[in-house]
Amino acid sequence: MRAVVITRPGGPEVLEVRDVDAPQPGSDDVLVRVRASGLNRADIHQRTGGYPAPPGSPADIPGLEYAGEVAGVGSNVHGIAVGDRVFGIAGGGAHAELITVPARTVARVPSTLSWEDAGAIPEAFITAHDALVTQAHLARNERVLIHAVGSGVGLAAVQVARAMGAIPYGTSRTPDKIERAMPFGLERGAAIRDASELAPVAQDWAPNGFNVVLDLVGGAYTPASMAVMSNKGRLMLVGLVAGASATLDLRRILSRRLTIIGTVLRARSVHEKAAATDAFARDLLDGFESGALHAVVDRVFPLAAIADAHRRMESNESFGKVVVVP
Ligand SMILES: NC(=O)c1ccc[n+]([C@@H]2O[C@H](COP(=O)([O-])OP(=O)(O)OC[C@H]3O[C@@H](n4cnc5c(N)ncnc54)[C@H](OP(=O)(O)O)[C@@H]3O)[C@@H](O)[C@H]2O)c1
Repeated sequence: MRAVVITRPGGPEVLEVRDVDAPQPGSDDVLVRVRASGLNRADIHQRTGGYPAPPGSPADIPGLEYAGEVAGVGSNVHGIAVGDRVFGIAGGGAHAELITVPARTVARVPSTLSWEDAGAIPEAFITAHDALVTQAHLARNERVLIHAVGSGVGLAAVQVARAMGAIPYGTSRTPDKIERAMPFGLERGAAIRDASELAPVAQDWAPNGFNVVLDLVGGAYTPASMAVMSNKGRLMLVGLVAGASATLDLRRILSRRLTIIGTVLRARSVHEKAAATDAFARDLLDGFESGALHAVVDRVFPLAAIADAHRRMESNESFGKVVVVP
C-alpha cells in the first residue's frame, strides 16, 4: 500500500509517499481502507522528531484519525462487517491507504457525511467532547472560553458546547476566523494579538468569570486564562502551540478553587480510546446525522501533496481541518 513516511526528522520535505507492507489485522482488529484522514499538530511534532509514535503504532507513518470502509475483520470481531463505513482515532498510521485499529475503538460514520467531512471529525470532536463534557463536566448555561477558536478542535468545541447547552466564547489572533466561527454557534469572539489582551474582553463577556476554559494554546494564555475564571472554574490544557512553560499565580488557583486538567488522546490505552469514542458517539452522532453538527474542512490534499498539507497547517492560516485523501 501507499503511505506517508517520515524519512528523517525535519521540515515538510522529509515526508515521502512510499510503497510499504500493508498492516495485518490481529484477532481483535479491523482493517480499514482509508478514504480521508485529518492532519493534526501531533503529526508535525512527530515529523520534526519531538514526539515519537506511541508503543504499538508505526514509528514512521503519521496520521491520528481516519474515515473509511472496513476491508477485513479479525477472528474475534463481531458486529462489524466488510464494507461498513467507520471512523475513529489511532496512535498513528492513518496517512496511508490501509490502517488496522482495535474494533472496540471504531464508530459508525453517519450516512449523511461525505468521506472528507468524516475524516475531519474524530480527533477534533473526540478531543473537544472528552475535554469539555467528560472531564470538565460542562453544564447547561455555563460560559466556556475557547482559545484558537478557528482551529480544528476550537470549531468542534464551539459546537460541542452549544450541543450541551453551554455558551461558547472564543479568541483568535486572526480577525477573519472570529467572523467565520460565528455561524457555528460562537456567542462572542475577539481577535487578540496575544494573551496580554485577554483581560478586558473577558471582563466584558463574563464579569463573574468563565466556568470552563478550553486552552488549546498554552504558554502565556494559561495564566491569563486563570485570571478570568469563575470560582470552581475548570481549565482544560489541551495544546501548547504558544509555549510549554508559564508562571502561574498559585494564590488564584487556591482562592478561586480552580481545577487545571492536562489531557492527551494519542497515548491513551485502547480501553480509554474506546470509552472516549463511545461517549462522542453517544452524544454527537445524531447531531451529524441531522445536520445540527458540522465538520469544518479547510482544504483537502491528496496523499502525494502531504508536504503541502503540513505547510498549510504550519502557516496558521487554516480554518478548521486540513484533510488528506489517499
Ligand atoms: N491533547 C490532545 O489530545 C490534542 C488533540 C488534538 C489537538 N490538540 C492541540 O489542540 C490545539 C489545536 O489543534 P488543531 O489541530 O485544532 O490546530 P489547528 O487547526 O492547526 O489550529 C491551531 C491554531 O492555533 C493558533 N496559534 C498557533 N500558534 C499560536 C500562538 N503562538 N499563540 C496563539 N495562537 C496560536 C493559530 O490560529 P490563530 O492564531 O489564527 O488563532 C492556529 O491556526 C493544538 O495546540 C494541538 O496541539 C491536542
